[in-house]
Parts: sequence; structure tokens; C-alpha cells
Amino acid sequence: MGKNCPDASRTFADDEKKTAHDAPKRVLVLGGSGLLGQALVQTLEKKRYETIAPSHKELDVCDARFVEEYVLSLRPDYIYNAVAYTAVDKAEDDEANAMALNRTLPCTLGRIAKSAGIYLVHYSTDFVFNGKRNTPYDEECKPAPLSVYGKSKLEGEKALLFLNPENFCIVRTAWLFGHGRKNFVRTILERCALQGSVNVVHDQIGSPTYSMDLAEYSIALAECNGHGLFHIVNAGCASWCELAAEAVRVSGCDCPVFPISHEEYATKAVRPAYAVLCTAKFTATTGIVPRAWPLALADYLNLEYQDMPHH
Ligand SMILES: NC(=O)c1ccc[n+]([C@@H]2O[C@H](COP(=O)([O-])OP(=O)(O)OC[C@H]3O[C@@H](n4cnc5c(N)ncnc54)[C@H](OP(=O)(O)O)[C@@H]3O)[C@@H](O)[C@H]2O)c1
Repeated sequence: MGKNCPDASRTFADDEKKTAHDAPKRVLVLGGSGLLGQALVQTLEKKRYETIAPSHKELDVCDARFVEEYVLSLRPDYIYNAVAYTAVDKAEDDEANAMALNRTLPCTLGRIAKSAGIYLVHYSTDFVFNGKRNTPYDEECKPAPLSVYGKSKLEGEKALLFLNPENFCIVRTAWLFGHGRKNFVRTILERCALQGSVNVVHDQIGSPTYSMDLAEYSIALAECNGHGLFHIVNAGCASWCELAAEAVRVSGCDCPVFPISHEEYATKAVRPAYAVLCTAKFTATTGIVPRAWPLALADYLNLEYQDMPHH
């Protein structure tokens, strides 16, 4: 167990006992409609947090004063910020909007969290790195983003680290797949059904991560009062092509997956060739060892495609 985390051995029964006596902790989730946001809301509710997740329309996150009034009227114990400008290629031509969501918003939230003593969990990305290494990146590695998206996310991190609220963590994650929103795995399986074969990039390597695991792990980190920068991904690494091939194999599709180079799959934004993240600091803090991505992928596919004939 992580030495900083006295609560790590708590069981679900303990949680039930605790909530019978104490008022449930209140949590504000921003971006609750996103891939990660949906997983956070579901997991927090299951863990009996009082969870409030305003939609895009209910809360204009670009209006700093309104955000402050909203947060102060709600007085949450935690804020999870899963809002982001995540359209990596579009961001190349839309820097101002990418910066507004990926830099200004975390800065606003950091300021509010600091003055009101709220614990803030913010998310960032493997795309802050240039991918020139060939061993996993830890939190000490120097970022050098290759894209506007990566740059805007790094600016958000820097703003928060500079503010250094008493209670906050920045969780860098990568290559998310999960329920309720478009993601790489779903896209591959849709293409298989339509085209009968897929060509997938083999020369970019990363850390595939299940949104439900990331939600659970980051809630555990917040419960342990993790402070500062952390990497959280599922264990192991893969190329996009290996991830696609495993998804196709597990889902039982009869669809060849052909490797292609990143040059053959032109994208506007440059992506790191290698962006595997090391989670040792997260494990040292929480006592949790993230499970391997193929296990997580199998769970995702089982839940997501349970109505398909081969399941
Ligand atoms: N997906 C990945 O592979 C990946 C990899 C590394 C890091 N991350 C990081 O993980 C975090 C979560 O990513 P995700 O994939 O879950 O993102 P996502 O699915 O694209 O969701 C983004 C969320 O932000 C909201 N949003 C976007 N623009 C907004 C605006 N102008 N005002 C208010 N809300 C707005 C979206 O609301 P609507 O539903 O209304 O659009 C949605 O709830 C982000 O910090 C991201 O940088 C993701």
C-alpha cells in the first residue's frame, strides 16, 4: 500500500459504513459528457459521491467569473476537470480556442481551488512529449510538444504547477478507449464492418488506457491526496496497429489488419513516435498497480459489444 494513503485498504463495506454517518463528499465534474467524464461520473456515483456534472450549456467554462460563482455556490470538496479541446488536428488551425480550454480553464480552476481549499484533479496528455525516447516517460522527463494541442495542454499544466494549490493533481494519460463516445477502438471495429480490412499505423507506440480504469485510478489518487504531476495509464505498450489487431481478435471479427507507416496516414498535427508513460509514482502513492491494457480492452469490448452475436 502507498505509505501516503491510509485509506488505500478501505473496502466497499467500509465505504457504506462511512457514508451512513458522514455526509457524502460533493464532487463537481466538468466535461461529464466526454469519454473520461462519463467514466468519472459513473464511478463517482457508484462510490457514493454526490456528483454534479453540468453540461456545456449549463456552465460556460470560458466565462471565468461565472465559473467562479458557480463553484463557490456549490462548494464541492473535489473538482474533476475532464473538459478539453481534444481535436488534435483541428487545433493546429484553432490555437486560440485550444488555449482557452486547455490553458485558461485549468488556470481559472486552479485559482478557485486554491482560494476555496477545493481538491482539483486535472488531466493532461502524453502529447506533451516529443517521442524521441525509447523507454517510458516519467514525471521528471522534459516535455517538448510537437503539436498545438500538446503545447496547449502543457501550458495548462504549467499554469497549475505555478499556482501550486494546496490540493491538486495533474494526471497525464494517453490513448483512451471507453464507452459512450467515439474512440480509436470503436472506429477500427466500425471500419472493419464497413470495409472488411483496415490499414493501421505501426510506427507510433503508446499506452492504451481504458476510461473506466483511469476514472477509478484517478479517484483513488485524489482520495490519497496525491499532489502534483502523475502519469496514469494501463500497463504495457502497443502500436496503434497492435491495439487494433487485439481489438479485432477479441471481438471475433474476421478482418485483416495491415500495418502502415505514419507517413502513409497523413495527419495535420505531428504525433510522438513513442509516448509510453511510466506509472511508478502513481503506484508508490496509491499502492495500485494498473492492470495490463489487453485485460482492460477485453472488459471494454465485453461490456460494449455484449449484444453482438459472437458474445
Ligand atoms: N482521448 C484520449 O485519447 C486522451 C489522451 C490523452 C489525454 N487525454 C486527456 O484526457 C482528458 C479527457 O479527454 P476525453 O477524451 O475524455 O475528451 P472528450 O471525450 O473529447 O470530452 C471533452 C469534454 O469537454 C467538453 N467540452 C469541449 N469543448 C467545450 C467547451 N467549449 N465548453 C464546455 N465543455 C466543452 C465536451 O463537451 P461536449 O460533449 O458537450 O462536447 C466533453 O465533455 C482531456 O484532458 C484530454 O486532454 C485524452
